Amino acid sequence: MHGKEFVAQLIEEMERLFARLGETETLESESEGQVDVVTLLRLALKSEIEASELAGFWLPTTPEVDAKMTLALQCGDEMKHYGLISQRLAELGADPSDFDPLAEGHSPLYQYLRGLRTTVERIAAGPFASEAIAKVRNTQFVNFCHSAGDHETARLYADTIQPEEVHHYHLGREFLEKHCTTPELQELAASAVRNTLAIADELRNLAAKTTGVHNSPVS
Ligand SMILES: [Fe+2]
Ligand SMILES: [Fe+2]
Repeated sequence: MHGKEFVAQLIEEMERLFARLGETETLESESEGQVDVVTLLRLALKSEIEASELAGFWLPTTPEVDAKMTLALQCGDEMKHYGLISQRLAELGADPSDFDPLAEGHSPLYQYLRGLRTTVERIAAGPFASEAIAKVRNTQFVNFCHSAGDHETARLYADTIQPEEVHHYHLGREFLEKHCTTPELQELAASAVRNTLAIADELRNLAAKTTGVHNSPVS
């Protein structure tokens, strides 16, 4: 199968899963039901720092220059997002200097991602699948902020953070289209995507309701 065709099928598989989400379901999952702007911004700090650390961790052991560029950009962007979210928390009176996002350790998804050895798996799980989840989560978060009357936080996400996450996702997608050219590489990428969808905190409720997320066929 051609790389583009393979990736189109993976996207279809992800979209089918996302279509089953309720309109605040990713927020409820990741916060274990505590859906309020400050809690969700604090959780976002953890996601941003983990994404930045992973991209930096992978950089020296990822030989492909196009992947290095994506990871280097992501490493910087995610820490920039961390700074913007911290600033917003301070404006909301929730001083982020009192809060350590990694106080309870890294997430299960971070632990999984850290163990990935091949570039195809790393890009499939990181810039591609994790950013696809971020895209859905951020859309739900923007809508939630508006409904809670916090238009400023909604604007920060809609105007700055979300377009950059979408850019990371597109870079991941392009890499996979170009490099997933054999059945072996396609299998590595598909497994990495499915594991990411099964482990991500944002999809926890959905994964619990679903049987065989790991094993469902691509097409
Ligand atoms: Fe980010
Ligand atoms: Fe990102």
